[in-house]
Amino acid sequence: MQQEISNTSFQMQCKRKHFIKDKIYHLLLDDDRIKISETVNFQQSKYLLELNFESQMYWKTEQDQLVAFGIKYHKTLKWFHANSSDLQHLYKNLFGRVFFGNISTIYDSKEILGSGASSKVYRVINKLTHCQFASKCIRKDYIYKREDKERYNRMIQEIELMRKLDHEAIVKMIDIFEGEKSFYIILELLQGESLHQFFKKHSLTLTQIRQIISRCLQALCYLDIHNIIHRDLKLENLVLNEKGKVESLKIIDFGLAIYTSNPQRQLCGTPGYIAPEMFIEKYPYTTKVDIFSLGTIFYKLLCKKSLFNGNTSEEILENNKKFLWNNHLKNCSDETIDLIKQMLQKDPNKRISACQALQHPFFMEKFIGEQGVAEESPHEIVRTFPHTKPMQIINSNDNIADIKIQAIKGSQQSFDQSLGSNYYPSFDEGYNKQKNGSDHIIE
Ligand SMILES: Nc1ncnc2c1ncn2[C@@H]1O[C@H](COP(=O)(O)OP(=O)(O)O)[C@@H](O)[C@H]1O
Ligand SMILES: [Mg+2]
Repeated sequence: MQQEISNTSFQMQCKRKHFIKDKIYHLLLDDDRIKISETVNFQQSKYLLELNFESQMYWKTEQDQLVAFGIKYHKTLKWFHANSSDLQHLYKNLFGRVFFGNISTIYDSKEILGSGASSKVYRVINKLTHCQFASKCIRKDYIYKREDKERYNRMIQEIELMRKLDHEAIVKMIDIFEGEKSFYIILELLQGESLHQFFKKHSLTLTQIRQIISRCLQALCYLDIHNIIHRDLKLENLVLNEKGKVESLKIIDFGLAIYTSNPQRQLCGTPGYIAPEMFIEKYPYTTKVDIFSLGTIFYKLLCKKSLFNGNTSEEILENNKKFLWNNHLKNCSDETIDLIKQMLQKDPNKRISACQALQHPFFMEKFIGEQGVAEESPHEIVRTFPHTKPMQIINSNDNIADIKIQAIKGSQQSFDQSLGSNYYPSFDEGYNKQKNGSDHIIE
């Protein structure tokens, strides 16, 4: 787990550049605010920045180094210069606690990597370190489309959860930025495709399936220990970190994730992957819903068919709700069938947990290297997928007719059609670049 920030309080010196004489200030970073004062006792701080998601911090760079930070004060951006190692330390300690402004100071945007229900994801390069990352761009018009703050709260929840996650099979969050038109979540860059894309093109051996399920279970075990429910596990949200290597897979997209302590228990996720207890109104479902979703993924990887059939998302959802599933498991070994049945167990209390599942004979040494299950050609595999676009349930009650399903467009083209072709590029914020030495931005 990421260290809680309470023990990272620190002080540094900084200065405001003035025409005649620079003025020295002292900065104190503590649990929930930054104080900037003329004296070291911080009794009367001239500038205060609360560390929350309403606050913004700006950065100025020169020759690949941080040279100043900026905070807004009475609608004016005030710049404070400091030595670059102190600034780096400050930058790191503000990780995930405030939005940084003006992403283009730090990152260069490159090509699109993928898109989902709420976002577009681009490859970006850090201008200071020249390292590559992924930037998940969430448009503000999407976030604020609904009058309640549901989408905003969900994004903040995603950030707060991700800030604390530290597991090799879960994508890491690096930074967060707020621009004029979008929010940006900077993530470690995963270099391979999503399992959805990979599985369309490649037959998987049983060993590969075992690696995928084992890795996901390890991540689910970690999430279980930290009381987090992902709620949207599916092939699209599993991405390979290295091209072609399923064992490098990571879970992404914590956009629907919640803590188990959160009393909200609405139906959400993607039709075809939803645990039966989620359809029961107000049922206090647990991390076991993710085991069920992983069970449906396991089934799909083994049989090349979806567990729940349907020509439309509504039909799939209906079959998912009625728990009407296909059984194509006949050719699998007893161990395989036993594990998958335990993961797809209707009663969540009887359903196997992630940590228990990892002890299952399916993962035992003696089965490693067993013949693969995929005998069909990749073309045949593609044909077995339902000819529907994946859809995601964002928020709903128990009544199927009321369920809001949101299309997730499979390609860049179809996504552009839904948002308008001017939805590009990631940093088209119309940001007014501050001139060197100026303290002002116009907004
Ligand atoms: N860290 C990453 N590295 C590479 N590609 C990514 C990364 N995160 C997301 N993607 C791509 O972007 C797509 C959408 O990301 P996701 O977080 O699922 O967004 P949404 O919440 O909108 O569904 C993914 O399916 C994947 O193809
Ligand atoms: Mg997604």
